[in-house]
Amino acid sequence: MTAAEISAMQPKGVILSGGPKSVYADVAPRIDQELFATGIPILGICYGAQLLTAQLGGTVARTGRGEYGRTPLTLTAATPLFADRPSVSDVWMSHADSIVAAPDGFTVTAQSPDAPVAALEDRDRKIFGVQFHPEVAHTVRGQEVLEHFLYDACGCLPSWTHTSIIETAVEEIRAQVGDERVLCALSGGVDSAVAAALVHKAVGDQLTCVFVDTGLMRASEGEQVEQAFRRQFHVDLVHVKAADRFFSVLDGVTDPEAKRKAIGETFIRVFEEEAGRIEGARFLVQGTLYPDVIESGTKEAARIKSHHNVGGLPDDMRFDLVEPLHLLFKDEVRAVGEELGLPVELVWRQPFPGPGLAVRIVGEVTPERAEILRGADSIVVEEIKRAGLYHDLWQSFAVLLAVRSVGVMGDERTYAYPIVIRAVTSDDAMTADWARLPYDLLETMSSRIINEVPGVNRVAFDVTSKPPGTIEWE
Ligand code: XMP
Repeated sequence: MTAAEISAMQPKGVILSGGPKSVYADVAPRIDQELFATGIPILGICYGAQLLTAQLGGTVARTGRGEYGRTPLTLTAATPLFADRPSVSDVWMSHADSIVAAPDGFTVTAQSPDAPVAALEDRDRKIFGVQFHPEVAHTVRGQEVLEHFLYDACGCLPSWTHTSIIETAVEEIRAQVGDERVLCALSGGVDSAVAAALVHKAVGDQLTCVFVDTGLMRASEGEQVEQAFRRQFHVDLVHVKAADRFFSVLDGVTDPEAKRKAIGETFIRVFEEEAGRIEGARFLVQGTLYPDVIESGTKEAARIKSHHNVGGLPDDMRFDLVEPLHLLFKDEVRAVGEELGLPVELVWRQPFPGPGLAVRIVGEVTPERAEILRGADSIVVEEIKRAGLYHDLWQSFAVLLAVRSVGVMGDERTYAYPIVIRAVTSDDAMTADWARLPYDLLETMSSRIINEVPGVNRVAFDVTSKPPGTIEWE
């Protein structure tokens, strides 16, 4: 867009987001230079900060010392953006290039060990830049940085509430669906449950929920879904047992993206068959969240994984999608779920990926390997709950690897698979930190898994944050 087009929209401010490119790449996104002269407040984050630096005559360089994850930020000058902020605090970084010199007229307001210019501003022109990510939960008081920009620099007012989200969603669903029949892909997880509840609130018994048992669910998940939705909510629920079909399309498939595509496509075919049995079903509800949309690659964001709910869908799919959660983050979905009166244990269940255990089985997905992982996973969840940590963790689960290692059990040599325990804290899944689980708990999980799950002879604990890792292994 040109600066004139942006000005014509009369924005209160402009946020230049982070992005995967280097400002010096041939196809790096740039902004119309005139924008800087419009007087519209601008906040550049990460790539956005580097871009405004480069375009205004400062220097961005590949210093060979990027920063990833938790990083101490030291304030170097007073600024309204950091009002009341401690002089040293942790922020979340994710950058390879660094700003090494601010443009003329700018003040450097913070630095970090490997970013000499971690924040800068030209207060007169209301142009601000931060190298760190104020929008992620692991940045201490990051939200306040955004609030200061929005309320103080831009003059915005906070008027968005969970009740207003529900009212808006209900109106949009009614407008989209009219009096047609709707199917909902119910997985038992919080996203599909909240999506179903919203659609039910909007169109009542026009809704039929379908639960596809893919054979890739967690232990006893099928029964839990039946109990909650059929008995408690009296939802019209169709339970499709399709494990054989999923394992047969996954036969020999080891590439993570190929797995996701195969599962997404099979999933939707099963739905189409169910729809054929339900007179006139034209719409399909999906619990797609905003992070799923971003991480599947918008025009500019790099593709990290094609999420099952988005990239995995075949092009010739004959449903129109209803995605009432597609602009929400997980914490907002939970708040909406509580507001709608869903049971607390359901609303606070840890997230589970659409492709299920398949993306936690590195290598080939077979019924036998799924059974190994299911056994290990239920022990992890059980022990985490027993330790009272389930609700403090964003996710805690087991991963099954494809390599085998040598061990010794009962004087016998073993040659079996390792299980990796993954436990992370997060608020929105965009970033995550590995959870510092007590050693005793790790030991209990490790010995129970090896003793109780045939085919496993070793347990490892994943100590990687996101970034650079992702939460799931595939
Ligand atoms: P990653 O592994 O990308 O995961 O850090 C972020 C969050 O998304 C969940 N996840 C998925 N959810 N379909 C989903 O509905 C998917 O294909 C999918 N892949 C990952 C993951 O469990 C984590 O909470």
